[in-house]
Amino acid sequence: MITGIGSCLPAHSLDNDEVIRTGALDTTDEWIRTRTGITRRRRVTPGTATGDLATAAGRAAMTSAGLRPDLVLLATTTPDRPCPATAPAVAHRLGLGEVPAFDLAAVCSGFLYGLVTATALLRAGVCRTPLVIGADTYSAIIDPHDRDTAALFGDGAAAVVLTPGPADAPGSVLHAALGSDGSGEELITVPGGGSRHPARLPQPLREPHSFRMRGREVYAHAVRRMTGSARTVLDLAGWPAGTVEAFVAHQANQRILDSVADRLGIGDRNRFGNIDRLGNTAAASIPLVMADPEVHAAVRPGARTLLTAFGGGLTWGSIALTWPTAVPHRLPVEQPPATDT
Ligand code: UT7
Repeated sequence: MITGIGSCLPAHSLDNDEVIRTGALDTTDEWIRTRTGITRRRRVTPGTATGDLATAAGRAAMTSAGLRPDLVLLATTTPDRPCPATAPAVAHRLGLGEVPAFDLAAVCSGFLYGLVTATALLRAGVCRTPLVIGADTYSAIIDPHDRDTAALFGDGAAAVVLTPGPADAPGSVLHAALGSDGSGEELITVPGGGSRHPARLPQPLREPHSFRMRGREVYAHAVRRMTGSARTVLDLAGWPAGTVEAFVAHQANQRILDSVADRLGIGDRNRFGNIDRLGNTAAASIPLVMADPEVHAAVRPGARTLLTAFGGGLTWGSIALTWPTAVPHRLPVEQPPATDT
């Protein structure tokens, strides 16, 4: 069960006009607001990376839980480097000694995949207090001149600490439904930098190393997959949709969120989000909503909670859990450690 919640957001907040000016984009503030629901997003300043956000969010979750984690799972698709994973460095910076630590890449579904993985490792006896972090710095991979994606993403991190606990305790992860469809690999992608298009090969311009998304096709998949996996999980839990008190979906686009919630039959006052202020923060988006003090104040511990996500891969998933009692904690970005180079 979730016994600690923490988050970290970069201090710099940009409005739509600033993004448009920076990228010389052929768009308007009105188009972005009405088609996506986004008015602002946070972005790191140069020199700050995903590991810096993840470390602060992890430390905040440890403070919230009052516990020392014995495993670190970092859900991200913007690691500090292609190799090694970022999680061991985060564990080291958190002073956790030689705990197991690894990254998990499921794009915007990453936090849900991570929560399910950590819960399974806990139940298998591999660990007792895993730390699950969702952190992304999409500003590092976004092409500021790409009108289709430049305004959509923000940077951020949030984390939870899990402990063993009875199924009826607040914060219990009860049921999950995960899925993938690799035939959609091209819809959301950074083509270069992996083993198929290694970064060492001469590449024309920056093209293969920038994020690309075929938004319209992704939109249809997102609605279908989030709705479908949410229905599966509601069936597994035996919860009629009308009894869900807290619905938290991956913050991709306000219209997508409304469409999924409408199809499921979830009431307006039970929908929680942050897309207007933070944009799409990828793996961090769902835990950032859970870590929001205003959301925490609005939802009672033990409330029936439905999380649902969709992302590149394609990947998707939904989780039924009860709302935790843990009081969220927030910390500023931790500066990167000094290096000799
Ligand atoms: O986080 C992972 C999952 N991500 C998602 O689920 C995101 C899914 N997709 C979306 O949120 C939306 O599809 C977008 C926000 C990306 C685009 O909104 P849309 O309402 O689906 O627009 P569209 O793709 O149907 O495009 C309509 C037109 C296109 O022009 P043409 O082809 O009709 O001439 C786009 O090129 O709008 C154009 N367009 C823009 N126009 C002004 C796309 N982006 C912009 C823009 N400003 N920023």
